[in-house]
Formats: sequence, structure tokens, C-alpha cells
Amino acid sequence: MSDVSMDTIVSLCKRRGFIFQGSEIYGGVGSIWDYGPLGVELKRNVKAAWWKSVVHRRDDIEGLDAAILMNPSVWKASGHVDGFTDPLVDCKSCKKRFRADHLKGDSDIKKCSGCGAQINLKENPPRLFNLMLKTFLGPLEDSSSVTYLRPETAQGIFVNFMNVLNSRSRKLPFGIAQIGKSFRNEITPGNFTFRTREFEQMEIEYFVTPEDADDFYKRWVETRFNWYLELGVTKDKLQLRPHGENELAHYAKACTDIEYLFPFGWSELEGIANRGDFDLKQHAEHSGKDLTYFDQTRQQHYLPYVIEPSGGVDRATLAFLVDAYREEEVKGSKRAVLSLHKDLAPYKIAVLPLLKKNPEIVEMAKKICSSLKEDFVVKYDDTASIGKLYRRQDEIGTLYCVTIDVQSLEDKQVTIRDRDTMEQERISVDSLQKYLKEKLL
Ligand code: GAP
Repeated sequence: MSDVSMDTIVSLCKRRGFIFQGSEIYGGVGSIWDYGPLGVELKRNVKAAWWKSVVHRRDDIEGLDAAILMNPSVWKASGHVDGFTDPLVDCKSCKKRFRADHLKGDSDIKKCSGCGAQINLKENPPRLFNLMLKTFLGPLEDSSSVTYLRPETAQGIFVNFMNVLNSRSRKLPFGIAQIGKSFRNEITPGNFTFRTREFEQMEIEYFVTPEDADDFYKRWVETRFNWYLELGVTKDKLQLRPHGENELAHYAKACTDIEYLFPFGWSELEGIANRGDFDLKQHAEHSGKDLTYFDQTRQQHYLPYVIEPSGGVDRATLAFLVDAYREEEVKGSKRAVLSLHKDLAPYKIAVLPLLKKNPEIVEMAKKICSSLKEDFVVKYDDTASIGKLYRRQDEIGTLYCVTIDVQSLEDKQVTIRDRDTMEQERISVDSLQKYLKEKLL
């Protein structure tokens, strides 16, 4: 188990403005969370790091931003209308509803995880509950106007396969990457932002010749695992879990999860699946359009196979938070630090005037702050004593604190403090930009 408790993380997130309960003043809404000023920066950085690594740093992947609302036939073709279900059972004692496959017990007699009563699945069989959220498009609210909030971003990629292939003159292998919101009417409560009803996914559909699929599947498992390591996640808290035959989704030929050891146990961050030609075949059939690829070398039309690395932005963000948090003893008091990777930290630099009542110090600090803002996310803070300001910045992961004092007015030097080592050094204002660029960019 991880050393930090979820209570500590949830409390830090609220206290320091990372994550708040959705609609909190109305008592909240189940499994929905809002990202505050710090959380939105962290989440944007997670998405930017992903985009950079899979789109900008590679020549074989194109980006896409497809609409959330799609033609309802998409969800029939994808199998979500008929198959995207959870088996639910009601407990007759406490009247609460549970996922039957999450209850403890044997195949027929389960134990209610709410009140502990017995639930006999033979007498009280589970009912299938579709997880898609329904809505209506247009002025009429009848069955002809029903559509769904997308439960995954992947289908937006499949329906644009031909558009991207042709507009970008692509040849296999190539991929399409997308980040966006997805919605699922999840029934089980979520361990904070781990399982929510509105969340963001970062998905790649990588199109390959069928013979190359196994090889690319293995390569993507490795590439995606390394991404978490490169961003600083502790190696011992990451593992790969290949799916057994009986737990593969209907579309998958193979799947491996990347799991993180959260305080509540090993849990999925991302899945890498070999989806075969299932999706393109389904969409070709339902749309009546030819979605085959013409292979010029072979002079042959065929449906490509698809390797899908599909990760959750919120889960990755939560893992980065949990993994970066540590508490240590410094001169007899507790210091909490979020030692986030430099690309992920919400603020890179804090500029702190030592004496906020001295107008010359304030002026110099504000000038330094605005010049650093050209290249970095920087915060000016004079709302507490220097000791408290350092602790506050440590707790939100700010990499460097730049302090301006009376001496700075004379010698045009400032103090730079490193978040992780707490070491301080004096450096001239003229070389500050260069120093920070070397450390941070
Ligand atoms: N297109 C494949 C797909 O959607 P999935 O395993 O259902 O596969 C992929 O979802 C990723 O999306 C998961 O690994 C997880 O990170 C994230 N995810 C799925 N459901 C989620 C939820 N309810 N809350 C937060 N993240 C979720």
C-alpha cells in the first residue's frame, strides 16, 4: 500500500485549491469534481506532456478534437447501446444498489457491501444497466432525438479515420490522438477522482497492418509505461497487468493495463488494447461506407488493425499527486512537499518580497515577476511571512522561490531556493532568466 492516505490528498486538494467537490454549496453531486486554480494548471500540464510525447515528438501521429455529441448510430455500431452495461442488484435490506460483480461472496450468494445482508442472486438476479448518459438533440424530446454523451473519445477517432488518412496523405502505420471529456453513469463510488461520471481521456488509435499488430501492441505497452516513469512516478508503484482471456472486452484481442499502487490498492491508469479490425468493420457496416485502406505496395484493400493506448487524464493526475506527496521533519517541524516533475508542477516559480511594506522591494519583486512571466508560470506572493510562504509553495510543488530583500536593492542579487533540496543561493538579477531556463526548460 502507498504511504500517503487518500484523506491527506483530498484535504490538500481542497485546502490548496487543486480539486473541489462539484456543486459543493448545494451539497455536491455524486462522483463529480471541479478542478481549482492549482488543479487546472496541473491537469493542463499532464495533457500537454502527453500531447508533446505522442503528437509533437513523433511523425507518425496526428491530433484530433472530435465532437462529444455524435450521430446515435455510432453507439449502435460500436456496441455501446447493447453492450456497455454493468450488472446491478438491489439489496432488499438497505435498499441500496450495487454492481453484482463487485460484491464479495460466492457465485449465487453475495454479501451487501452497504449493510452486510445476504443477497441471493438466484432469487434477485442482477439487471443490466447501460452506463451511457442520454440526452436529446433538437426541439423534440422523443425517441427520434435521443443521443448520448460519449462514453469514450475513441469513436470520434474511428469515424474520422478516412478524413485524417486522406487529408494528411497517410500510410500505415500511423495513429490519431485525442484528448477530451467522456461521460459514464458510474454506479460504484469513485475513490475521489479515480472513478467519476465526467472525466477526460487521452486516447490513441494506432492503425497498422494486421501482421504487425502484435509487435506494435508490445511496443505501445512499453512506450506508455515509460511515459509515467519519465514524469517521475516511482517505479515500484507501477505495474503491468495483462488481461486474462475471460476479462477481455468484446472488441479486444489482447489488453494490458498499466496500474498504479494508490492508497486504495493497485488500480488501472491506462489500458493498451489490440482492437483488431472490430471498430472499422462495425462502422463500415453501419454507415455503408468503405473504410478499407488501399495498400499500394501490395495493391490490396484491407481493414487495418488498431492498437489503442487509452488513459485517463484524471487518474494520471491523481497518481502524479499521490506519488509526489511526501512529509518530512525539518528543524523539528513538519514539511509537506509535492515533488512533482518540473513539467507538471502548476507553478514553476514564486516571487516573494521579504518586506512587503518596503515599496522599493515590492517594485523590484514585481518587475522580476513580470519579466519571468514571459517564459514561465510565476506567482507573486506577499501574503505571509517568508517561512510560511516557503512551506506553502513546497506544498503546491513550486520548483523555485525567488526572494528579494533589502540587500537586493544594493547588489542587484536575489535568493533562489530549490524546492527539493531547500538549498539557497544568491544570484544576480541579470543571470536569473538564464539560470531558470537551464533548470526548467
Ligand atoms: N476506448 C477504450 C476505453 O475507453 P476504458 O478502460 O473504459 O477504455 C480508458 O477507459 C481509461 O479511461 C481508463 O484506463 C481510465 O484511466 C479512464 N477512465 C475510464 N472510466 C473512468 C471513470 N469513470 N473515471 C475516471 N477515469 C476513467
